[in-house]
Order: sequence, then C-alpha cells, then structure tokens
Amino acid sequence: MKIGSEAHKEFFCRHFKETYQEFDPKALPWPELNQAELERLRSVPFWQEVFYTERRAGAIVAAFTETVKDPVLKEAIALQGLEEARHAELIREMIRRYGIDAQELPMEQLSADVETAFKDFGFGECVDSFLGFGVFKMARQSSFLPESMFEIFDVLMYEETRHIVFFVNWMAYNQARRGFVSRTLLPLVSFRYYIRAFKRMVGTARRGAAMNDGKEFAATQASVFIDGFNFRRFLEDCYGENRRRMSVFEPEMLRPSFLPQLAETALAALRLWSFRSKPQTPA
Ligand SMILES: [Fe+2]
Ligand SMILES: [Fe+2]
Repeated sequence: MKIGSEAHKEFFCRHFKETYQEFDPKALPWPELNQAELERLRSVPFWQEVFYTERRAGAIVAAFTETVKDPVLKEAIALQGLEEARHAELIREMIRRYGIDAQELPMEQLSADVETAFKDFGFGECVDSFLGFGVFKMARQSSFLPESMFEIFDVLMYEETRHIVFFVNWMAYNQARRGFVSRTLLPLVSFRYYIRAFKRMVGTARRGAAMNDGKEFAATQASVFIDGFNFRRFLEDCYGENRRRMSVFEPEMLRPSFLPQLAETALAALRLWSFRSKPQTPA
C-alpha cells in the first residue's frame, strides 16, 4: 500500500474505527479495595497530572477535529477526541470512587496553531505510551494493586496504543501528501518533535516532583516496585510490551518506530557491555 494514497487513508481510518470498544467508565467492574490497597492507590502522586493530561488531550483533539476538512479523517479524529474525553471520565470516576486527592485544574489556553498542538500531543503520546508500557508491566508484576484494577487500566492502555498507531499513520499520510521533500524529511521532523516531547516530559516531571516534594511515595508505597529497579530490565519491559501490544493490530499499519529502535540499540549495547565486562575465564 502506498503511504499517502487514498487507500492508505481509508485503511488506517477504517482500522481505527473497527478496533473501537464501547464502554461506560461508570459501569466498569471497579473492584472493592481494602485499606492497604486504597492507601497505595491514593499515594500515587500523579493522578492529578494524569486527569489534567486526559482533559487537555480531549480539548486538543476536539479543536483539531474542527479544522479537518476530509470527512474520513475527520470522523476518525473525532472518535479519538471522544476516547480522550472518556479517559478523563474514567480517571474522574476513579478519583471519586476511591477518594483520591486530585483537583480538577483549570484548563490552559490552547495554542492557536491547533495542527502543531495536535502533532506535539501525538508525539508526546508516543513517548508516554512507550515508557508507560514498562511502568505498567512493573506495577502489575509487583501486584502494586489488585489485578482487577490493572484490567481497567488495560482498557486505557489499549486505546492509547491505538491512538499512537493511528497518529503515526496520519503523520506519514500527511507528510506524503505534501510531496517528496516532505516525505523524505519525515524522520527529521519526527526527531524534532520527539525532542520537544522529551523536553516537555522533563518539565512535567520537575513540576510534579516540586509539587510532591519527593517523600511518601518513593519512601514507602512504591518501594514494592522501585526497590531493585533495574534500568535494563525496565527498557526490556518497555520494548517487549510495546511489541506485544502492537502485535494485535493489522501488520500493514505503520507503527511508531523511533523509541523501539532506540531501545533496541541501547539494549544491544548494554548486553555487549555486560558481556565484555565479565571477567575472562582462563582457557
Ligand atoms: Fe488518553
Ligand atoms: Fe490518547
């Protein structure tokens, strides 16, 4: 299939719609949590940030939808907007049910350049999801919360995976439509956006750390999975989970490749490093 063709567009939009799942956040099988589990859930310092990010995502995608002329693209992007708004509802429901201390922060003024905002948001989702895959696996394996809770978050993770797959296809389609130069520059353009996404992520993490002033979470609750944290293991989890989660989609769909490739290179280097640093056994 030629990237940028009508067939490509029809394909990735249809795929997005066909993989849609209907659910009502309020009607999900939310589990009863015991006191210790409740405390662990409440101790997670980033629920307020997650809640805000999902609300902001809904607003950006909705604003961008308004500017899209092509009816097929417009319908698919509108669906993503609806899903982002539903993510915010899911988080809102969780905050309410379990009495989590997270405020509904006032929404910032969105940029007038909605297309750039949508692209920044899309590349940001690629970064967040890739790292999120690893964090999710680590938290799940350490039974930080009951499995029934992870099944609920899994719904959200599945949709985020769909979003980034849709996004990279849309991005490639968009660049290809703008001509040869634009198409060949795509890796460079993507790289620039990834750097911007990383910068924003560092900014958010700094803000979060300043707001929570460290303590509590790191000291007690998270110790179940922060103790013995191993960077290589984390990277392997991100990489492996990305592969597993991506495998459920049509093989012809483009997938985000920047971070998986970077991780693959880093892992190969780490393996070589640990091999070479092992003492040689005399023959
Ligand atoms: Fe979302
Ligand atoms: Fe998303």
